[in-house]
Amino acid sequence: MRYKSAMRILAIETSCDETAVCIIEAQGDMNADFKFEILGNALYSQIAIHALYGGVYPNLAKREHAKNLIPLLTKAFRSANYNAQSFNYKAQSLVMAKELLAREEELYEQLIEFLKIHPKPDIDAIAVTKGPGLEPALWVGVNLARALSIVWGIPLVGVDHMEGHVMTSLMDFVNPSSGLMQKFEFPLLALLISGGHTELVLSHEWMQYAVIGRTRDDAVGEAFDKVARLLGFPYPGGPAISSLAALDRASHQKPSLKFTPPMLHSNDLDFSFSGIKTEVRKFVDGETPDDEMKMAIARAFEDAVAAVLITKTLRAVEEFEVQTVVVGGGVSANTYIRQQLGDALAKTDQAKLLVPPADLATDNAIMIGLAGYFHAIKKDFADPATLRADGNLNLART
Ligand code: KG4
Ligand code: ZN
Repeated sequence: MRYKSAMRILAIETSCDETAVCIIEAQGDMNADFKFEILGNALYSQIAIHALYGGVYPNLAKREHAKNLIPLLTKAFRSANYNAQSFNYKAQSLVMAKELLAREEELYEQLIEFLKIHPKPDIDAIAVTKGPGLEPALWVGVNLARALSIVWGIPLVGVDHMEGHVMTSLMDFVNPSSGLMQKFEFPLLALLISGGHTELVLSHEWMQYAVIGRTRDDAVGEAFDKVARLLGFPYPGGPAISSLAALDRASHQKPSLKFTPPMLHSNDLDFSFSGIKTEVRKFVDGETPDDEMKMAIARAFEDAVAAVLITKTLRAVEEFEVQTVVVGGGVSANTYIRQQLGDALAKTDQAKLLVPPADLATDNAIMIGLAGYFHAIKKDFADPATLRADGNLNLART
């Protein structure tokens, strides 16, 4: 049953190596009356393909998104009970869709087949990740969303991927398919740690952000992936490093190795992770370490990374009298970082920590649907004729 005051959002995410589509129904505003339900959710991870090459190749990611979007859309529609039914669209709207997807011939052909059996659905807005991310990959999702918005006459919302990560952490998942919003106070600080980003974002007001710290070189997830590669693990290596480090902690109380936490004592809130990767590379020195040494390296690396992430987060909490800290992005799935940050914040007795469910820490479309909903209720719509993907989109400017 559809609630009368609820909005249904179709969301599309293609910023990196996950192709994802979902349909959520939500109602209420940011405070206690907000609730949502996931009606359909489909995700295809390209990890296995990129693992063969040791990292994400933007043009390969783009091709895979183009190939998989319509099958995922079909799957999400089926779960949401938008049943197939033949339909004829106005030729003019299909011409515009063809122009938008001129460089994605296969996607256009698949879209036409999809539209033959899907009339305009009961959806109030289409939300799509417009950035940041890999630009060729972003464009595929953006152009499909623009085409659907034009063909169906449904408003379009361009979403900042990082805002999606923040929103996911603010939710209270009552069960895997529905939830409410957590109770939280401003100022809110978001530690956004993923394969492409490492940022500290401050928010004094709902949906207003300022970036107060960022990485000067590699993102933290990238450092996890590079160190994992040095130890012989496939992309993305974050989970492998994390498991090895946990094994080492379980077998020796004291670490046998130490790396330098990068920029720990710098007088700002910035990060840098390329130096520690170099330190690990020099230490390994072209050899493949034995299993015991791999565990020691993983632990020392994770210790150093956690130390700097936590120190800078605590510094920002103190400086801005932060009441709520959220962690988002793929690296927020890391158990040790979550636990250490939780312990450190508990000691300050000031800020509450909110983390996303582990399976929604990495990229997905639900995060985009949630952020898209809050823009849609403010009627913050994009023009489907002009919405652009922006690989360097900055949360502070959205
Ligand atoms: O947010 P995400 O799915 O994609 C980007 O927007 O980048 O993050 C992916 C990153 C990868 O670098 C991956 O190695 C890292 O998150 N990651 C982890 C863990 N799980 C995923 N890093 C450390 N520990 C983990 N448990
Ligand atoms: Zn992400």
